[in-house]
Amino acid sequence: MVAPSLPAELAALRETAVSVLRGNDLGDVTRPSPTLYPHQWLWDSCFIAIGLRHLDPDRAAAEILSLLRGQWPSGMIPHVIFAETTDFYHAGPQRWRCDRVTTTAGGMQSTGVTQPPMIAEAAVRVGEVMTGSQRAAFYRALYPGLLRFHQWLYDERDPDDDGLVALVHSWESGMDNTPTWMEITRPAAPLGVRVLRRVNGDDALDALRRDSKEVPPDERLTSGDLFTLYRIVRELRRSHYNFREIRRTIVPLVQDVAFNAILVRANEHLATIAAEIGEVIPPRLRRSIRRSREAISQLAVDGLYYSRDFRTHTLLRHETIAGLLPLYAGVVPDDRVDAMVKMISSPRYWSRFGVASVPVDDPAFLPRCYWQGPVWVNMNWLIADGLERYGRLDAADDLRRNTVDVIAASGAMYEYYSPLDGSGAGSNRFSWTAALLIDLLATQR
Ligand code: SER
Repeated sequence: MVAPSLPAELAALRETAVSVLRGNDLGDVTRPSPTLYPHQWLWDSCFIAIGLRHLDPDRAAAEILSLLRGQWPSGMIPHVIFAETTDFYHAGPQRWRCDRVTTTAGGMQSTGVTQPPMIAEAAVRVGEVMTGSQRAAFYRALYPGLLRFHQWLYDERDPDDDGLVALVHSWESGMDNTPTWMEITRPAAPLGVRVLRRVNGDDALDALRRDSKEVPPDERLTSGDLFTLYRIVRELRRSHYNFREIRRTIVPLVQDVAFNAILVRANEHLATIAAEIGEVIPPRLRRSIRRSREAISQLAVDGLYYSRDFRTHTLLRHETIAGLLPLYAGVVPDDRVDAMVKMISSPRYWSRFGVASVPVDDPAFLPRCYWQGPVWVNMNWLIADGLERYGRLDAADDLRRNTVDVIAASGAMYEYYSPLDGSGAGSNRFSWTAALLIDLLATQR
């Protein structure tokens, strides 16, 4: 891919993006933001690599390969691999104590949960800008670990073999305070949270939280919800991060529609990688992959997709952006695509700035609060990719253009944007916004 020749204003914006990535570069990993997220996050690194490929393909490949240093002997790739930094992080190694149950491949400390499996997508995108021999070497280095990760997802998280993997924490979905997850998680609130909530709402808890140095608390999840998520980590720790043990606890288990959709697409990319280096995906995984594609249809009612409670198989019928990702997976039946595109393009979801994470007419909608409404650049990127592969080129182009416009209007690489007025919120030096902007500018038609 050739560097685009851009109008001055966009060239300056691209420079800002490059400097954000440089500022967050820790060597061969990139932190998502300077103080809020000072370590390596799984899906962040994948989106970051998709942008870095336009600057330095080898560095982009290193970003992806470095995820394997956190891999557990079981095959799990954790959602955070802790960097050697003294920067404060609110859910650091002491909260997880994973070193008591396992040793990661590279001896790094990590969390005990995973995150959406974007690795194969990122690897194929990076592979696209490499020479054939570079790509083969990169794929060979990545494939064994990547294969084990996909095998682990089915072996550990789909014990009933229904083709849908279950998540054990909203942090695994990547959409921390999305209403679906919060509704199923809140009953597990610790007693202290329930009591304090009754006395004076979340105010008393606000003083105790330590994740709001870079970002005002009202742009993050509520303190009550945050302390509930900490409690779930405690339960997971006591269950040794083992699904058989976790199943017996109060931990909510969710067959998350976005995660499973991303996995379906990742499986296709895994097959591409395997074919290119002459590897054959083992039959057991091939079977799971087939079942997985079909299983997403079990999450649909009247053309809408929802996550599902793993234990009861009840659909969690709260509409959010997660339900749009089957389009990215390519599993929406042809006769349903028009209705889905219409829904995405309606003002409930799509303002001038991209797709809202919760429809704007939903009672839970908050325009600047994390995954409770804001537009996220990675979601726009995934949905645009899905639209394009369904042949909806105009809609894909519009969405990409809107994404560039909202970043350009703010002039900074915000973590998320209000769908009501396009104002930026969260971190203003957020790596995946910077990386995906670079990608959108390089690939725009
Ligand atoms: N997003 C969570 C956090 O705020 C963890 O992945 O740290």
